[in-house]
Amino acid sequence: MRLIPQPLSSELLGGFSSVKDITERITVDGMNEEEYELTVSAENITVKASSDKGFYYATVTLKQMKLLYDRLPCVRINDRPRYPYRGFMIDCARHMFSLDELKKMISTAADLKFNKLHWHLSDDQGFRIELDNFPELTEKGSVRDCDNFRNLKNPSPYSGYYKKSEIREIIDFCAKKYIDVIPEFDMPGHQSAFLHTYPQFSCKGTAVEIKTKEGIFKDIVCAGNEEAKSTLKAILDEICELFYYDTVHIGGDEAPKNNWKSCEKCQRAMRENGINNEQDLQCHFINEMAEYLANKGKKCIVWNDCLKGDGLSRDITVQYWMGNKCKTAKAVNSGAEVIMSSFMPMYVDYPYGMHPLKAVYSYEPEDFSGLTQEGKKNILGVESPIWTEYIDTDERLEYMCFPRWFAVAETAWSKKENKDYKKFCFVLDNLAEKYRREGLTVADKAEWDPEPMQRLKRTLGFFI
Ligand code: ACM
Ligand code: ZN
Repeated sequence: MRLIPQPLSSELLGGFSSVKDITERITVDGMNEEEYELTVSAENITVKASSDKGFYYATVTLKQMKLLYDRLPCVRINDRPRYPYRGFMIDCARHMFSLDELKKMISTAADLKFNKLHWHLSDDQGFRIELDNFPELTEKGSVRDCDNFRNLKNPSPYSGYYKKSEIREIIDFCAKKYIDVIPEFDMPGHQSAFLHTYPQFSCKGTAVEIKTKEGIFKDIVCAGNEEAKSTLKAILDEICELFYYDTVHIGGDEAPKNNWKSCEKCQRAMRENGINNEQDLQCHFINEMAEYLANKGKKCIVWNDCLKGDGLSRDITVQYWMGNKCKTAKAVNSGAEVIMSSFMPMYVDYPYGMHPLKAVYSYEPEDFSGLTQEGKKNILGVESPIWTEYIDTDERLEYMCFPRWFAVAETAWSKKENKDYKKFCFVLDNLAEKYRREGLTVADKAEWDPEPMQRLKRTLGFFI
């Protein structure tokens, strides 16, 4: 039986069932906690699992079967995921989305057996988490003067943040679907909102504007400023309390070192700690934050940019998105865990012309040069981000993610040998229609895999 994501194995038993819901749950020791066996027979639907998660994934499978079939075929499905980390990232720093919209995205992702929401909540264009001890961070840090993104221009100020109660509502919503919520507080770069609020924590100490357009900006947190670091830690304290899962993302991407090079405090920190260059200083800075989090019982994820320097702790999980393949392979081979999010093709904010559905589907996280067999065991899974510099409507957000997140889900959950693009598209065609009827914007089939000329046109159209 073909489903999305494709189960590990299934056997049609012949005939159809007269029941639609689970009639018996049997707890079986020794199964993986996300594993289940679902047996649909003429008069019973039985699930075997060892934990609530296993039972839950059986209900997810059954829900999809009901969407696809008017009468449930009798079948036995044995299923468990390929990877423990099946992530989707939503950037709410560049543009925010309503709780209802986030829930719609989360529900659809849950139907595809994703289990990690990486929630990008701070960036150069705004800080979006209400904090009791730092009210000025949202008063000042959530407001930008206008939108001046390449294709989105608006002269009015843009502002907003999620209240703690709203964040808890999303966390609770996710918890019911066995989705962990991982907040990202990006540092030391992508910190214009923080530095706008506290300019004393930049190297130069001068005013920093919240950015109104996309890009990489030189304003980064001073790594030699103890008060800056203790403020970041105090913010992490409150973030950790709010997001009660065991993992926090602290970014670490795209942090130009121009200011650190000419900063007395940063240079002194390097001398005092025997650090040779600014990239190593970033490793030192990130290690310090990770150690702080570890003492609070939290694991930490960073983008692979943190591997530009030497000395990043192997206890830190690396999220690979671009560049640094050799250094990433070296870190992963020597024990660092990794989440695979290669820009090409996992970034679904880029057009279908550039990252067509077939390319997303065909992404194989273990085809990564330099990884040993031991290293491959450190691949926790995959994640697909949607960045929102160019997205400010619900429809656009959904259109970019769906159906490409259906493809990501299959890579994350299904055994490599069980993947088949033609069969996937056959099910997807049917399933996409059902989701459209429920109000989800899913790109039309004609958009999924454009012809070469169309690909070129759409890619150019995106950049011009
Ligand atoms: C990134 O796309 N800057 C992680
Ligand atoms: Zn500095």
